[in-house]
Amino acid sequence: NTATNPATGYIAIDQGTTSSRAILFDVHFAIIHIAQQPFDQHYPKNGWVEHDPEAIWQTVQAVTQEALSAAHSKGMQVKHIGIVNQRETTLVWHRETGKCVYPAIVWQDRRTRDICKGLKPHEQMVQSKTGLRLDPYFSATKISWILDNLPGAREQAEQGELLFGTVDSFLIWRLTEGRVHATDVTNASRTCLFNINTTNWDPALLSLFNVPASMLPTVKDCADDFGITTHFDAPLHISGVAGDQQAALIGQGCVQPGNVKATYGTGCFALVNTGTQCDINQHNLLTTLAYRIKGQTHYAVEGSIFIAGAAVQWLRDGIQLITHAADSEQIASDVDDEHGLVVVPAFTGLGAPYWEPSARGAIFGISRATTAAHIVRATLESVCYQTNDLLEAMSSGDIRPSVLKVDGGMVANSWFCQHLANTLSTQVVRPVVMETTALGAALLAAIQAGQLSGLDAIQNANPTECTFNPEGNDEQRQQRLAQWKQAVSATLLMAQ
Ligand code: G3P
Repeated sequence: NTATNPATGYIAIDQGTTSSRAILFDVHFAIIHIAQQPFDQHYPKNGWVEHDPEAIWQTVQAVTQEALSAAHSKGMQVKHIGIVNQRETTLVWHRETGKCVYPAIVWQDRRTRDICKGLKPHEQMVQSKTGLRLDPYFSATKISWILDNLPGAREQAEQGELLFGTVDSFLIWRLTEGRVHATDVTNASRTCLFNINTTNWDPALLSLFNVPASMLPTVKDCADDFGITTHFDAPLHISGVAGDQQAALIGQGCVQPGNVKATYGTGCFALVNTGTQCDINQHNLLTTLAYRIKGQTHYAVEGSIFIAGAAVQWLRDGIQLITHAADSEQIASDVDDEHGLVVVPAFTGLGAPYWEPSARGAIFGISRATTAAHIVRATLESVCYQTNDLLEAMSSGDIRPSVLKVDGGMVANSWFCQHLANTLSTQVVRPVVMETTALGAALLAAIQAGQLSGLDAIQNANPTECTFNPEGNDEQRQQRLAQWKQAVSATLLMAQ
């Protein structure tokens, strides 16, 4: 009975690209405990990226259990949880056994590039219905690849034996022991099968991508009843679900049209809230569902960069120029910026606004004076230039943000935040709770639990911790941006 025995906390499950986390919040949305477990990335072929669904499931169970134990030891009672997740990543499993028929094909995976090329004549139809592009990034071609490449899969799918889900759906199915096959509007809007105007699965898209309707989950609001899990000691209501980037928009309090946030995780995703009107962006950005709460749909325009924090990971684990990700801050601030080095981190193709899945990374301007430190600095700078590309694309569509709210692992690096403000010539604001994705999940669960009335209560949930004002010389800024653009053009030329 909620009235006599109120919840004293929420758990946000944040299932990301490189790790699963569960974060315990109190009812004032302060973080009490963070549990995190990384899992392996699999790259079976050039451009392919897969996850083991059982590793996703096991790490999610383990971190949730740890967060529940932390709540227990603090005398807190958790009744509602939220789930936020890496989007687009595609899983197909047996309705009867719950076993996946193939590894999860990750959002970064480029294997369906040729399928997308073949469907090019339909791009306008796809864009007007989904707000997305024909790119391997989205789930639709990943589903058809599984059905067409796994012997017997298509027949089984047509007989209603297989189910599709993004990571949220898969977790809901596992957590409810197969009682609920559901997703939320934000995750649905990233599949390329969902019509964002009507907010329904679209028969023309299902037929274009050859995906049987029986595979699809029911689509719900972001704050909704997604079932009860009895997997842990006490029953937990799954009360909030959203794609991680939309959750971060909520966790940043960006609920007014024109509010913009950029989250620097594996990739960087800049979303601007565009309100209740669905206007398909024509400037190489995506139009997507921001959230649907109490039946009211809000839209966003999104710029997606595939590599941001992953570039720092590459500096550490790939070419091993740094020992810890945090070292990049000191190294970058110790070198000058006059070296003219440009890194284009197109490791898994280029996303917005270029959309070239065949592009690969490049470094320009190497001389005998180039040191590892220059490469570290230029790699961080490249994330700033890519963000600038997104903001430029937004402003050609008449969206001119005056403040950029930032979050994600990379923004703990203050040199990066300052350099970002200088590059964009825009104020950059870092919030108190940098775990905005998880905070978004907790806020959604709190709406469904009845603790929060709705969006108005969210607006000021995460105040500013630090503001970075733009500094520096505009001529130099323009010169560096011009160098970046030349480097991208050369990279694109190599991809032809
Ligand atoms: O669209 C992909 C995005 O949701 C992945 O987010 O945080 O795992 O980089 P992240």
